[in-house]
Amino acid sequence: MGPTLPAHWYRDPEIFEQERAGVWASEWIMFAPAAKLETPGQYVAEEVAGYPIFVTVEPDGDLRGFHNVCPHRAGVIVWPGDGVTGNLVCRYHGWAFGWDGSLKAARDFGDDPGLCPGERSLVSVHVKKWRNFVFVCLGDNPPEFESAIAPFADACAPFDMEAMSYRHRLVRVLKCNWKTYVDNYLEGYHVPLIHPSLSRALDMSTYRVEVPDESYCIHKSDTTEGSPAGGAWLFRYPNLALNVYPDGMNVERIIPIGHETTHVVYDYFAIESGDVDAMVELSNVVLDEDAAMCEAVQRNLNSGVYQAGRLSPRHEGSVEWFQRRLRSVVNVSS
Ligand code: FES
Ligand SMILES: [Fe+2]
Repeated sequence: MGPTLPAHWYRDPEIFEQERAGVWASEWIMFAPAAKLETPGQYVAEEVAGYPIFVTVEPDGDLRGFHNVCPHRAGVIVWPGDGVTGNLVCRYHGWAFGWDGSLKAARDFGDDPGLCPGERSLVSVHVKKWRNFVFVCLGDNPPEFESAIAPFADACAPFDMEAMSYRHRLVRVLKCNWKTYVDNYLEGYHVPLIHPSLSRALDMSTYRVEVPDESYCIHKSDTTEGSPAGGAWLFRYPNLALNVYPDGMNVERIIPIGHETTHVVYDYFAIESGDVDAMVELSNVVLDEDAAMCEAVQRNLNSGVYQAGRLSPRHEGSVEWFQRRLRSVVNVSS
């Protein structure tokens, strides 16, 4: 097992710019619960690593995704959040677009022979629905979705997610680089120190994180009452953590808001009798514990005292996997 990523990768805006291209504009990213994008006119607008995106449902029911950036003077087409819209009209000066993103009318613009409507369309993004989720890929040449999701899909196959409805969202803002939080999510080495109540429920001598495929990893541990409550804790590169049980799931996305701030977005799904309040309470406790350490680690990474560390062969193979994938798309020599 080699060294960790260098500390400056966690604080350097230029590294973040490379990640925006090599990770966030290249991979399939989970964007929204499918329950928010079911009927014509519904939309979800959110930023993905500094790319404002929206996905909407066309009148014929198909999903369409666009950069939320008007080709006139970069106004917004829909405000961030979710809801229903009857048309795609820029909120700034009122240019109107078809559901395919083509410019239909430039309101009260005046006579300009140089305005070619065909060159003034919204920039589209690729969209795919998979089970309870909608994914986007911002790149021009996305990986073929079905083969990209297949290994993760196989790991999720035992769970009847379609029996679970969307119930609740929780968003937390962390003062750390997104990788600081992902590194932390990927290992159980810290559990006995940081999460006392979780640690008591698990047989930590059996805790391990396996990387069955380049696209995802899985946490495994016996509980003090037997197997991990019939659930699975999965992480799909680059930012989707799915903690799924027979009666519900807690779906966690780690989304950078610049190089030094991270949103952790939890979406909770449950069967009708599932206790969502208990799921929210448990994840809040664990997140409080993780957030305090991740923010402290970030301050230490910023201090200049630490250059790089070593990863545990026993516990941090999945951190090595994640960091190896990042090294393959960020072009610096260190
Ligand atoms: S920026 Fe969209 S119409 Fe002006
Ligand atoms: Fe943790």
